[in-house]
Amino acid sequence: MHETRAAVLDALSSGPVTGPDLAERLGVSRAAVWKHVEALREAGFEIESREDGYVLVGIPEFGGEAVEYGLDAPFEVEFHETIGSTNDRARELAGEGAEDVVVLADEQTGGRGRLDREWSSPSGGVWASLVLRPSLPPARVSLLTLAAAVAVTDAAREAGVAAAIKWPNDVLVSDREESNEPSSARSADDSAERGGRKLAGILTEMEGESNRVSWVVLGVGVNANVPAEALHEGATSLQDEFGAVDRRRFVQRVLERFDELRESPDDVVPAWKERSATLGQRVRVETPGGAVVGEAVDVTDVGALVVQTDTGGREVVHAGDCEHLRPVWAYPTRWRSRTPSPPRSPHRPPPSPSSRRLRPSCRHRPGRS
Ligand code: BTN
Repeated sequence: MHETRAAVLDALSSGPVTGPDLAERLGVSRAAVWKHVEALREAGFEIESREDGYVLVGIPEFGGEAVEYGLDAPFEVEFHETIGSTNDRARELAGEGAEDVVVLADEQTGGRGRLDREWSSPSGGVWASLVLRPSLPPARVSLLTLAAAVAVTDAAREAGVAAAIKWPNDVLVSDREESNEPSSARSADDSAERGGRKLAGILTEMEGESNRVSWVVLGVGVNANVPAEALHEGATSLQDEFGAVDRRRFVQRVLERFDELRESPDDVVPAWKERSATLGQRVRVETPGGAVVGEAVDVTDVGALVVQTDTGGREVVHAGDCEHLRPVWAYPTRWRSRTPSPPRSPHRPPPSPSSRRLRPSCRHRPGRS
């Protein structure tokens, strides 16, 4: 956000403050103050003009400036109500030299998933693409994808949803506690369901040479405030799992956690392992070289999956489509027990124990969060 505009917002959040006072404090003209106040109103900030000055009384639910306001990470946000694909726009910006810019949209009309799949992106989701210029060797760029999966998982858990990561980077929600249905009764084609319901996915694209990365676009799609019926089969949403979230705060938490992790790349794999739904599972991974079947026993320092195969060997898989072969009710209990309890969520007021499926209201108050 423009530096002066951010300073105006800060001052108004602890207002009232008069235009002349503000102009003096910030070293700009009164007309400039007025222009910033009008621009902020247009962006959805509610600013009252009282006798004793301006005061901020409400912030928008979502949007570029809303996400930047109070964000504790160095990202600029470009917001679109609707766009083809945030990854496509982020690639354009990357080509123009942008860095640490997030393209964020309420809706995508041409959302793209991994392996050339479509990604349903109705209004109400969190569809975001980060433009990054990391100083990592190309072989370690996968750490950014893993970091994004950890960041989304942590934000979902803070929002009260028992999320975990399926290798390499799908964020899932387990459904075995609520389901009495044997897995054999489910659609055999529904691979996402066999690892839990899919809450979020990540699509990483990059450009560079063999020893140098020019840019990375990290596309993060989180099914936030959308009904699961509007999504592909096997998908779920934060809204369906727990209730509508404050998307502004949710995106902030993802960006803040991601920023923390990219600063300490050595912490990424241990954090990923702790949140893994795949380790310890019997898996089938479709790779370009054929299927690998066995037990997922480890991930390497760049996030490749180590599978102990049925023939007694170990295979290291760098890319592929992973399916969990165990019945859905046989997940390790550690996934469940590590889920933080919903009342600590910063995304919404604490729910009562019986309100798990009620939608709490998202209130937006001015002030740094
Ligand atoms: C997957 O297949 O699991 C990855 C899905 C990634 C979807 C996100 S939504 C934001 C960004 N824009 C896109 O077109 N795709 C990614």
